[in-house]
Parts: sequence; C-alpha cells; structure tokens
Amino acid sequence: EKKHKVTIVGSGNWGSTIAKIVAENTKQHNDVFEEQVQMWVYEEEVVVTSDSKHYDPSMGDKPQKLTSIINKYHENVKYLPGITLPSNIVANPSLVDAVKDSSILIFNLPHQFIAKVCDQLRGRILPFARGISCIKGVNVTDDGVSLFSEWIGDGLNIYVGALSGANIASEIAAEKWSETTIAYDPPPMDNSRNPSPRSGSPNPGITVTDLQDVSHRDCRGRASKTKLTGVPAEYPPLDHDCFRTLFHRPYFHVQMVSDVAGVSLGGALKNIVALAAGFVDGRGWGDNAKAAIMRIGLMEMVKFGKEFFGETVQSQTFTETSAGVADLITSSSGGRNFRCAKKAVEKGITVDEVEQQDLNGQKLQGTTTAYEVNSFLKARGLEKEYPLFTAVNDILLNKRQVDDIPNLVAQVTDGA
Ligand code: NAD
Ligand code: 13P
Repeated sequence: EKKHKVTIVGSGNWGSTIAKIVAENTKQHNDVFEEQVQMWVYEEEVVVTSDSKHYDPSMGDKPQKLTSIINKYHENVKYLPGITLPSNIVANPSLVDAVKDSSILIFNLPHQFIAKVCDQLRGRILPFARGISCIKGVNVTDDGVSLFSEWIGDGLNIYVGALSGANIASEIAAEKWSETTIAYDPPPMDNSRNPSPRSGSPNPGITVTDLQDVSHRDCRGRASKTKLTGVPAEYPPLDHDCFRTLFHRPYFHVQMVSDVAGVSLGGALKNIVALAAGFVDGRGWGDNAKAAIMRIGLMEMVKFGKEFFGETVQSQTFTETSAGVADLITSSSGGRNFRCAKKAVEKGITVDEVEQQDLNGQKLQGTTTAYEVNSFLKARGLEKEYPLFTAVNDILLNKRQVDDIPNLVAQVTDGA
C-alpha cells in the first residue's frame, strides 16, 4: 500500500507550527504517511543574531538563506524562534519541487500571497491530491466573496477543506493545550472504503465508483466547477480519520466537522473583530467594552455567514466550535491583530506602522480583510447592516474615531 506524502505550503509563524505538528504525526503514523514532510519556504536572507543559540561567531552578521538555517538547525529563527522543529521537516525553496508527488497539501501562508502561489502550482500537483487551508481570510472580487478553501480548490482542481480554531501559534508551538476545528466534506468517492455522508453536508448520499472527474457540491451547496479525481485504492483513504490522525496531538485536539464555509468565515471575520477589541482596549475602556465588541462582532459574523453562505453554513459553527467563538475570544485577548490595534491607539500611530515596527515580517490579516469585506458590503449597499465591520474599516482609514464606535453600533445594542 502507498503512503501519503505531505507538503506544507508556507512557513511563517503558523505555517512552521503546523509543520511541527504534522511532522510529529507523520513520524508516529508512518504506516499511513511518508515520514519526511516538505515545507515550502519563501526564500530570504536572514541574519542569525547573537541572542540566538545558533549564533555562529565565524558568520557574524552575514545573512544566510532561511532554508539552510532551518535544515541545519531545525529552527525557523525568523518566524518561530526558540522552537525546535522535528528533523523530518525539509525546508524547500522550490514550490514546484516541494509539492511533487504529494497527496496532501496544507496551505498555510498570509492570504496576500496565495494567488501567486496557486498560479505556480496549477497543473503541477497530483490530480487526486486533497488540500487543507489554514489561511484566515476571504477572497473578495467584483463577483463576490469566496473562501480560500474553495478558491484554491477551484484554481487547482482539487478538493480543499479548512482548519481553523483558537490557535495562537506561539502557544501551540510551546505545546500548550488547545483545540482546533477541521472542516472537510468531499463527496464520498475516495476509494472503496468511503466515509458515510455526514449531517449538514452539501454532498449527502453520493455514491461514486468511478474515480475520474466526479461532480460534487461546493461548500454553499452549489454544483462545483471542480471535477474531482478519486484517490487511487492503493492509498489509505483521505477521510476524516486520516486528517484527524495527521493533525491531532496530545496538546492539539481536533474536532472534525462538515461546515467548511462556517469554519473558514469564523477564522476570517474574527480578525476584524479582534482589531475592534484592540481599539477599545487601547482607548482604555476595559473588559466590559471588549466583551460588547465580541458580542456584536459574533452577531455580525453569523449574519454575514447566513446572508452570503446561507445554504450550508450552520450558526452552531460560530457559536459552538473552536473556529467560531473560541477563536474570537483568544484573538481578541492576545492575537497580533488585537495587539497591533491596541498599540496603534495607545501610541497614536497607524496599525500598519505597528505591524512594520513590531512583527518582524509577520503579516496581519485583519486589516486587509476589513478593507475587502467593506468593499464587498459597500458595493451592495449593506455597510449600515454591519456597523462594527464598517466602523473598523473607517477607523483604519482614519474616517472615524474609536469614540464613534458606541453610537455606530447602537442599532445592534438597542436591538433595532
Ligand atoms: P506570518 O504572519 O508569520 O507571515 C510571514 C510569512 O509570509 C513567512 O513565511 C514569509 O516567508 C511569507 N512571505 C513573505 N513575503 C512573501 C511573498 N512575497 N510570497 C510568499 N510568502 C511570503 O504567517 P503565519 O502566521 O504563518 O500565517 C499564515 C496564516 O495562518 C494566516 O492566514 C493567519 O491568519 C493564519 N493563522 C495564524 C496564526 C498565528 O498565531 N500566527 C494562528 C492561526 C492562523
Ligand atoms: P492573529 O493573526 O491576530 O495573531 O490571530 C491568530 C489566530 O488566528 C489565533 O487563532
């Protein structure tokens, strides 16, 4: 029987953490997975500074390739410093080489860069590969809003699910316990050991024996443009059990669900709310104000999901899973979007300036998501229906002040 080869597309703060989790599991379950995990690294020159245990006085301040540093010291000194990565992770600067022969592709990079990456991958991956998107953001075009899981899937002609949760990377890299949610719902066609249809799935009851070019329903329940290729029978099935095995660790507990839209939207939209929480915290308004922001934010998240992905999205995904309310709480307590928004208000500078100064190359997702969601709502005349999302956009653009938030969201507060 063949084994699944796994590639992580991305190697930032979360990308490197997920690579660690996955490599621990491919080693432990080497009957199902090839032990070696490829991690595509956007190559850059990095200086190993004297406060790092890998500082080499003979190199001094000479920049070195990030891939060479990771492969030599098993540490991503730039994006996940201080954490030893398993030695079965191979940092690869070539995207096309990193995905070669991989049947599982894990997309984990800031959403700003995904379009270019997909352009390079088109036609260069196994046709029966399956993907998981760990990206927190939405893709907004003139045509509407789409999820990165469906957008990557359509672009590469493969099925892509989503992983999202209350998952601040530094805590998980230090192996502090957390939960996550994985939404995965292809039609049951992977091979003869098909999973049974799951409740809430847009793909109930499809029974398929032909492994080629099979139609399925997307995460909104519409006929998908993507024609899926089945996983050959000599591979272990790419089902819920397989993905739970790949991601579950004693310190990282996985809940498998079918609601890809709800899971993806939770991860994307909570970043806008976390910015708002940072704004009011930076203003010095305390925990009551922050809780109000979270409550109103959660309502707008559910409303957005129901309004634009209503055919399949389940409110419980927002209110009951790690990808929903739990991620909202953790991100509004200690996430980067929260911390940068808070500091921006305290220092009287922009969130972009704090990102540049403090994050050492890590990228905020909330600011671009706030702009993108706003342009989508504005084009439909719906800005007033989402007062908190709109307020965050306007504060980022310096069109409104934090002090305006209470009045702007009053219609929600008053139940109007
Ligand atoms: P990050 O913020 O650490 O971003 C840096 C990454 O971007 C690096 O790998 C860098 O090489 C890459 N990069 C820079 N320029 C690039 C370019 N031109 N092309 C391609 N790549 C380039 O990234 P991250 O924290 O790994 O975030 C990835 C996704 O995971 C995001 O959607 C984020 O919302 C989500 N996420 C992050 C966390 C977290 O705590 N960091 C937790 C959960 C989810
Ligand atoms: P930030 O990108 O704001 O740090 O959020 C991380 C996250 O998604 C935690 O679940």
